Amino acid sequence: MAEIYEELKAALASVRSKTDFVPEIGLTLGSGLGSLAESMDVECRINYREIAGFPISTVAGHDGSFLFGKIAGRRVAAMSGRVHYYEGYPMKKVVMPVRLMRLLGAQAVLLTNAAGGINQTFRPGDLMLITDHISQFVPDPLIGSNPEELGPRFPDMTCVYDRELRETVLRAAEMQGTNIRQGVYLQTAGPAYETPAEIRMFRSMGADAVGMSTVCEAIAARHCGLRVCGISCITNMAAGILPDQPLSHEEVQETGRKAGRKFEDLLKQTIRDISL
Ligand code: 6GU
Repeated sequence: MAEIYEELKAALASVRSKTDFVPEIGLTLGSGLGSLAESMDVECRINYREIAGFPISTVAGHDGSFLFGKIAGRRVAAMSGRVHYYEGYPMKKVVMPVRLMRLLGAQAVLLTNAAGGINQTFRPGDLMLITDHISQFVPDPLIGSNPEELGPRFPDMTCVYDRELRETVLRAAEMQGTNIRQGVYLQTAGPAYETPAEIRMFRSMGADAVGMSTVCEAIAARHCGLRVCGISCITNMAAGILPDQPLSHEEVQETGRKAGRKFEDLLKQTIRDISL
């Protein structure tokens, strides 16, 4: 049996020694978007440090615990804080949390992130429903021996972002009067932001937004049979989109917080309406 499957089973045992909670939905909260966790009806909180082999986040603004409880009446496993590839973890560690969600019983994951806007019609504070992604600038998280128990060696990626879940998000946005964009998300390794030349390249490739997470998790989630939904908060415009505007992590976090309420309401409504 593949080593990562053994690791996952050890992590699962750590969680199961503390709770028998079975989530319907896994939720990953991005930079500055962690406040939804506060409005959750928490049954059990497990610090990542208490989970065998679990990767621990090191970035300011990324807390580290798994919350089990209810949002809008649905059973959710929420990750407040995630690890990123740029922290130095191998991809198989970065995607361990989504796989654990699957082993805990989740059927769908909602992945959120803060992203830089490439599409020139976007503005900071906009929300973007992810319709597809570009993964070719980071290693595939499925490289290495394939745990057949989790999924196939060569998984299909024709429709990573579940059509029904996308429709649920769009309906929720419409009900709330929230304008929502749609587009292609491209993951970079980071941690350096891109140069204007790189952003022009990404735009010509069809990317609408760029960030340092989510795609690897979406691939691992599809691989193990989770239905995937992704939403970005456009926290800033990518390099060179607006003339002479340097990027900062503080701006990313600040806009994330400002859009927080609108984003939270959308996520709650979506979670309420998801049919599995
Ligand atoms: Cl502009 N680039 C990347 N790679 N990640 C981001 C970002 C930009 N803005 C927020 N996250």
